[in-house]
Amino acid sequence: MDESKSVEIENFPDSERKAVYRAIYERRDIRHFRTDPIPDDVLARIIQAAHHGPSVGFMQPWDFILIKNPQIREQAKALFERERQAASCFYDEPRRSQYLSLKLEGIMEAPVSVCVTCDYTRADEVLGRNAIPETDVYSTCCAIQNLWLAARCEGIGVGWVSILRPRQLRNILGIPAHVLPVAYLCLGYPTQFYEQPMLASAGWRERQPVDPLIHLDGWSGEPGSGWDNFLDALGNATPSKTEPI
Ligand SMILES: Cc1cc2nc3c(=O)[nH]c(=O)nc-3n(C[C@H](O)[C@H](O)[C@H](O)COP(=O)(O)O)c2cc1C
Repeated sequence: MDESKSVEIENFPDSERKAVYRAIYERRDIRHFRTDPIPDDVLARIIQAAHHGPSVGFMQPWDFILIKNPQIREQAKALFERERQAASCFYDEPRRSQYLSLKLEGIMEAPVSVCVTCDYTRADEVLGRNAIPETDVYSTCCAIQNLWLAARCEGIGVGWVSILRPRQLRNILGIPAHVLPVAYLCLGYPTQFYEQPMLASAGWRERQPVDPLIHLDGWSGEPGSGWDNFLDALGNATPSKTEPI
């Protein structure tokens, strides 16, 4: 690559740009599924999109375990039930009852589960992982986000189920000890795409305003120059204001 020449990179045409933001803003974690199967070509596109995520040193540490077998999904569901009960002990009433009333998975209704794993040993030397060993897991999460967004534009819902003990999940799926199950995902046609995160509409937790999360030129202190208009722009860049589809 000749780095002396600057390359003109076109931005997307308006409708495509909006479609990308639409996938981002209308992606939801889904727990209510129809049992209809996902066509192979659709599932294949979604998995390819995941495989094209970024990864540290181009390590590509992921594997995808695709599960249709209901007996295996039943075991995952039983594991979820045990962990859900265990987790409920850490809440006081009335939060505990509210937690137990939430639907936090769709393992048996969704026709396919996908377990995305991270193999720490995928490459002997990983460019860029030295200082932060967890970058392999971060990379796996990038693949998962690709999967989530691709699924949304295919009309497929994805629900991430993390209320599962990795050790037991390893046993159920026969995952070797050096491979970490990062995500157990339920995929299927949703009965609805919720407008808001379900935890927000259920009164569990609200989306935070972004402004207090922004730190200019450092965590605290006076920002340098060049930021005068950014916070106004941020206020105007809410999904509803910028990207009506
Ligand atoms: C790492 C991770 C683990 C999650 N685990 C669960 C889970 O076990 N059960 C569940 O119902 N949702 C789970 N979620 C979904 C979150 O609750 C959801 O992303 C959040 O409430 C925001 O909603 P949204 O994804 O619809 O925008 C998980 C999400 C992430 C990123």
